[in-house]
Amino acid sequence: MAAFKQQLPLFKTGDFTGFLVAVLAVLVVCVSRKRRRTGLAFPPGPPAWPLLGHLPLLGGRPHVRFSEWSRRYGPVLGVRLGPRQVVVLNDFESAREALVTKAEVFSSRPDLYLMRLFSNGGKVCWKAQRRVTDRALRRLGIGKVTFEGKVMREVDDLVSTMSDQHGGAFDPKYHVGVAVLNIICSLVFGEHFNHDDPLFLKLFDAFEDISHYGGSTKHLNIFPALRHVPVLNTGAVRTMAAVKKGREFISTMIGQHKATFDPSNIRDFIDAYLLAISKETDENSSSSPKKGENFLNEDELRQDIFDLFIAGTESTTTTILWALLLLSVHPEIQTKVQEELDSALGPYRDASVLDRPSLPYTEATILEVLRFRPTPFGLPHATTADTTLGGLEIPAETQVIINRWALSMDDRKWSHPDRFDPGRFLDPEGHLDVPVYFRPFLMGRRACVGAHLAKMELLLFLTSILRRFTIKPPEGAPAQSLDGHLGIILQPPSFQICAVPR
Ligand code: HEM
Repeated sequence: MAAFKQQLPLFKTGDFTGFLVAVLAVLVVCVSRKRRRTGLAFPPGPPAWPLLGHLPLLGGRPHVRFSEWSRRYGPVLGVRLGPRQVVVLNDFESAREALVTKAEVFSSRPDLYLMRLFSNGGKVCWKAQRRVTDRALRRLGIGKVTFEGKVMREVDDLVSTMSDQHGGAFDPKYHVGVAVLNIICSLVFGEHFNHDDPLFLKLFDAFEDISHYGGSTKHLNIFPALRHVPVLNTGAVRTMAAVKKGREFISTMIGQHKATFDPSNIRDFIDAYLLAISKETDENSSSSPKKGENFLNEDELRQDIFDLFIAGTESTTTTILWALLLLSVHPEIQTKVQEELDSALGPYRDASVLDRPSLPYTEATILEVLRFRPTPFGLPHATTADTTLGGLEIPAETQVIINRWALSMDDRKWSHPDRFDPGRFLDPEGHLDVPVYFRPFLMGRRACVGAHLAKMELLLFLTSILRRFTIKPPEGAPAQSLDGHLGIILQPPSFQICAVPR
């Protein structure tokens, strides 16, 4: 070693700077070699920094930056986030090619630190899980009129909280959040909680913390080793604590369901899943031992429930909040929705999913909220084999992000995409006309499992609110920025509204 140090004058005893420079040089060489290995056929992107790749160029609104780059380098964009090569899809055609035409290769999820914190990193047999989840939701009548009562119970609570404000200014975030969370509780546990029930509040706090701190751990997806560095790992530590609380709650509920399970009386999602587990066990015990592999078990059930909470609460809450904010600053659109509701429903009745055909402008307004302020990146995908997209090469295990912001703001598809205009979803006769390239819940094998429930929630919440109130910004309040803040999803700014009784 002493001889080695003599040959390399850089490594004088105690000279750490030299050592660091050498390590840096080696890393730069490794990274540039990796780039050369992937060759010219990897999707193009702007020049990147050594080591950090495109990270320093993304700014606070990466969805907007990717859209800008895609105009120059093409819709299938290749970027490097630290050491990871990532492909970002920025138009409908490339997203469809990946998610539908080449679904076999593009339907996995990447093994990211944040995904591991929340779940199992997509390493389980997701197809079996997905099948049982879809079946259980169908069996429970999700999105159909039979489930409407459970949603309306929460809608009524929210409307009554809004009435209690007597037209004064309030922040709707907490009230919408508890209502949406309680709907998932009804679905999964078959139970509606009082909003001041300490158990329910514990669950609410856990998912609030996951949303808040989870969004601040994105850097660990890129440099997972930083999870060991104090301060930089604060978000991860708090997220882990919240995930643990959420899981404990779910385990208790599963335990209670097992104790009272009756296969002839399926009460909720847990029961439907327990039934699927017992059927699989029966089938396997009567087939050859080789075939007898169980995909469904209690751990997977716990994970599935956790996914429903994670994926189903923040997305829906945020969309309802965006709708309230956007309608408060577009009174002319709000008035048109209210006129349509009054004429289709009369003075006393609330809307039902069965009223959809007579509410085209209302439906168009909900779709426009989903287009105008989408969840920019949804959940990341990953390739399971070497493949191509738009004639470019994508290696196996590449992370693939669908930039739904770019799809929503594509001016080759939408005229004046930065304008909030429900009229774009109507034909000249005023009938709903949804273009094939509008997929707020994405498409293919990993498309949103809760799309029917989400659409029902958006319709029932917004129609019930607008039947009773006109939503206004507080008198003299400064104009809000509508850019949003990107955490796990695109959050509106904190805002207040007045729900003025009609
Ligand atoms: C406005 C509300 C919602 C929006 C905009 C939305 C959108 C999405 C999107 C874009 C994806 C990613 C699809 C992909 O990766 O290809 C997704 C996945 C998912 N969503 Fe939703 N979602 C909403 C509400 C819900 C609700 C209410 C539930 C549950 C009841 C739910 C459960 C899920 C689950 C479990 C996944 C993961 C599916 C998988 O990995 O196979 N979502 N959602």
